[in-house]
Amino acid sequence: MSTTAETRPVTPPAIQARKGGEPIVCLTSYTAQMAALVDPHVDLILVGDSLAMTIYGMPSTVGVTLEMMIAHGRAVARAARRACIVVDLPFGSYEASPAQAFQAAARVMAETGCAAVKLEGGAPMAETIHFLTRRGVPVMAHVGLTPQSVNALGGYAVRGRAEAEAAAIMADAEAVADAGAFSVVVEKVAEPLARAISGRIAPPTIGIGASVGCDGQILVVDDLIGLFTAFRPKFVRRYAEVAGTIEDAVRGYATDVRARRFPGAEHVFSGG
Ligand code: KIV
Repeated sequence: MSTTAETRPVTPPAIQARKGGEPIVCLTSYTAQMAALVDPHVDLILVGDSLAMTIYGMPSTVGVTLEMMIAHGRAVARAARRACIVVDLPFGSYEASPAQAFQAAARVMAETGCAAVKLEGGAPMAETIHFLTRRGVPVMAHVGLTPQSVNALGGYAVRGRAEAEAAAIMADAEAVADAGAFSVVVEKVAEPLARAISGRIAPPTIGIGASVGCDGQILVVDDLIGLFTAFRPKFVRRYAEVAGTIEDAVRGYATDVRARRFPGAEHVFSGG
């Protein structure tokens, strides 16, 4: 991608057409301010339900509501000019039936202005993905580790180490691809499986903790910049340590206030 004057939004079909080409750069954002900073440098912004942990301090994504996703989707869509904006459908808003999924997706798209939705799950969600894509809703699928199912999975361990589980994840990826997903997030699987999936399915794979064997990569932006520090997935490389910078600034401010010092603002207090 280029960061020049191009301002036309990247569309889901344009992402789909990148299969096997230049790697697709994706990041999450949850606020207008972050989206404005991220937008010029990425192809796709995901308003992820990881906001449960990064913004709301929840223990998992299970408690996220449609209203939360819509509020943050709106903020991001207001600020981003170019990237393809995808909003996560939260747990409980789409699994019951294709009709339930369509109602949730239509609300998210109409109320945020995003270009597509993402939902978790493989073969069992194929009928729903088919239903949505035939009705004008571009869908990014998500296989491998699916964090909304953490209670059923028993944790966030790497998926697909055993042969049978790897075969099931491959079948999931094929099912969502055949159902019409324009791209497929592949989370926390070993490199040989990520490469095999990427080589087998038509839509681009977007890896998170799934090696360079994917057609693109996604990370949680708060992990990338070192803002979220409660835990650090092994696969995350931190490009900055923003939490430390914030703490230094706050410590400096507190020191100045306690010393009755306010550098730079004396003229305001003196009426100058
Ligand atoms: O919620 C999220 O942030 C995700 C990832 C793929 C980054 O689903």
